[in-house]
Amino acid sequence: MKKSWTVLLIAVVALATIGVMKLLENIHERKIESRETVVRLANITETTVDPAVWGQNFPRQYDTYKRTVDISRTKYGGSEAIQKLDAEPNLRTMFNGYAFAIDFREERGHAYMLSDQRETERVTQVKQPGSCLQCHAANTVAYRKVGLESGAPGTLEDELLSSSGMNQLFTGFEKVCSMPYDEATKLVSHAISCLECHDPKTMALRVTRPGFITGIAALARSDDPVPHMPSINRWREGPRTKDYDPNAAASRQEMRSFVCGQCHVEYYFAGKNKLVTYPWSKGITMDAAEEYYDEIGWKDWTHKDSGAPVLKAQHPEFEMWSQGIHARSGVSCADCHMPYVREGAVKVSDHQVRSPLLNVSRSCEVCHRYPEAEILARVDVIQTRTRKLLDRAEDATVALIRAIAAKKGEGASDEALAPARALHRKAQWRADYCAAENSMGFHAPGEYARILAEAIDYARQGEIEILKVK
Ligand code: HEC
Ligand code: HEC
Ligand code: HEC
Ligand code: HEC
Ligand code: HEC
Repeated sequence: MKKSWTVLLIAVVALATIGVMKLLENIHERKIESRETVVRLANITETTVDPAVWGQNFPRQYDTYKRTVDISRTKYGGSEAIQKLDAEPNLRTMFNGYAFAIDFREERGHAYMLSDQRETERVTQVKQPGSCLQCHAANTVAYRKVGLESGAPGTLEDELLSSSGMNQLFTGFEKVCSMPYDEATKLVSHAISCLECHDPKTMALRVTRPGFITGIAALARSDDPVPHMPSINRWREGPRTKDYDPNAAASRQEMRSFVCGQCHVEYYFAGKNKLVTYPWSKGITMDAAEEYYDEIGWKDWTHKDSGAPVLKAQHPEFEMWSQGIHARSGVSCADCHMPYVREGAVKVSDHQVRSPLLNVSRSCEVCHRYPEAEILARVDVIQTRTRKLLDRAEDATVALIRAIAAKKGEGASDEALAPARALHRKAQWRADYCAAENSMGFHAPGEYARILAEAIDYARQGEIEILKVK
């Protein structure tokens, strides 16, 4: 009897030991997995443009990156390429005389950025410069090649961030901006790729758009408060002998927004070489950009109905986010738009960049411990209020355009119409700044409300000016 109990006991202990060992082994494997997620199959260098090659080493990130082809819809966002001009007829009137009155769609996933640009009627019906390419393609290597052909020093193998690498990038960028679009677009074959955001050796984040590198250095030189950009504040306190360089100075958390701020910003094409330029030398707010454009006497076009010298605003997500509570609290674009996904023991950044409302549990609930329905309801309150204010601002702007056009029709002089036209410029810039920003208020609700209230006020002031014209 006793003997069989002993045998049983030994058997149980042995089994338990095997179990514990298996568990330890499993934990150990996962630890290794999480440390060595990278099996270096492909040799990735400064000239590896094709994301599929990077995908051999980083299959998880590549798989999610490819999913940016998916089409989805949210109440105010998503990626169905609907014609905004039909959804919002006010925009046709506001953009009259400019390419945006021909074709202006809801934006969609990164996978489409190059083909959508090639196919838009803003490109097929209107002549555009190579500058358009800066934010719509994997172009780092293309810029460098053109730079080398134009006499920049070094070779393509030089590290991008070396002085010869940067010289090649900027020289090529300047050349490509001044080419016709049709010629420039032949130099590239992929939408945004890994190389536009990552160092091929270390995989660290880096910024590669020349317009951003120049723009953020100009912002650093201004005295606009940027509490959410600590590395700029440090630079401002220093000797300022060299330009602020995000690739050298920014923290990892800052880079998690800067890589997006490379493209999701207001811009214009400066000078006869049409250099992509961010209007940040007076600061990153809506008002600072307007002041900049007023000072250099810039207009995007003369409005066909009102004759006012007007501006077109473009996707100021980085600027609007800068004014919101999340930026102030240190929350980056990637925190919401590229949240972590757990795969086994590995934490992977979701490279399917899209609306966070499709992914509330991973995008928001890591910080806000409310049920999904409650979070969605809070966003809906912000967005629906914004939409209502935006409708008012667009209606008021359109009313002013019609009032000026009517007076013009009656033969009023340019001089008599000048005050109302100046107010049209101000009102339209504000309404459009909010319409062109893609979060419908979410990135900075208070700032949206302020800007839209000003738009309505300026538009109605303009109508009063028209009443004074005899
Ligand atoms: C706190 C979370 C959060 C942060 C931080 C954030 N966003 Fe967003 N973003 C949102 C939400 C929510 C929406 C609204 C999505 C919708 O309506 O479907 C949005 C919308 C967008 C859209 C439009 C998406 C669509 O489906 O049409 C873009 C583009 C965008 N954000 C870019 C950025 C960029 C660039 C940054 C950083 C400069 C940023 N966001 C920071 C939460 C965030
Ligand atoms: C500074 C970066 C930048 C430059 C330069 C730029 N774009 Fe874009 N473009 C974007 C971003 C970001 C989006 C997505 C957000 C949006 O659509 O509001 C976008 C969206 C688009 C879209 C899809 C939505 C739509 O508007 O119909 C088209 C088409 C487009 N751009 C064409 C162009 C053309 C043509 C030019 C040159 C005149 C140009 N882009 C220059 C950043 C840029
Ligand atoms: C090289 C320029 C570039 C960079 C860098 C970039 N974007 Fe975009 N993004 C675009 C363009 C262009 C589009 C619109 C593409 C189209 O409509 O064909 C877009 C679309 C989007 C959309 C809309 C997707 C959808 O499903 O509707 C979101 C959200 C977005 N970007 C967020 C981000 C975030 C967050 C980052 C940083 C991690 C980032 N982008 C970096 C150029 C860029
Ligand atoms: C628009 C910019 C952008 C592009 C394009 C991009 N990434 Fe990333 N990637 C990020 C950001 C942001 C992170 C988070 C980095 C951090 O927190 O340090 C990241 C993180 C990573 C990481 C580190 C591990 C992780 O998942 O957090 C790897 C590996 C990676 N990306 C691979 C790729 C590959 C492969 C491609 C091309 C298929 C690619 N990335 C394209 C922005 C980008
Ligand atoms: C990394 C953490 C983090 C993430 C991710 C995050 N938030 Fe927040 N959120 C904050 C912080 C911090 C505040 C500021 C309030 C505070 O200090 O408690 C805030 C504030 C808010 C507010 C109040 C806004 C206001 O203007 O007062 C809303 C609404 C909100 N978040 C919604 C969201 C949604 C929706 C998402 C996902 C798309 C999200 N948040 C993702 C940290 C986060």
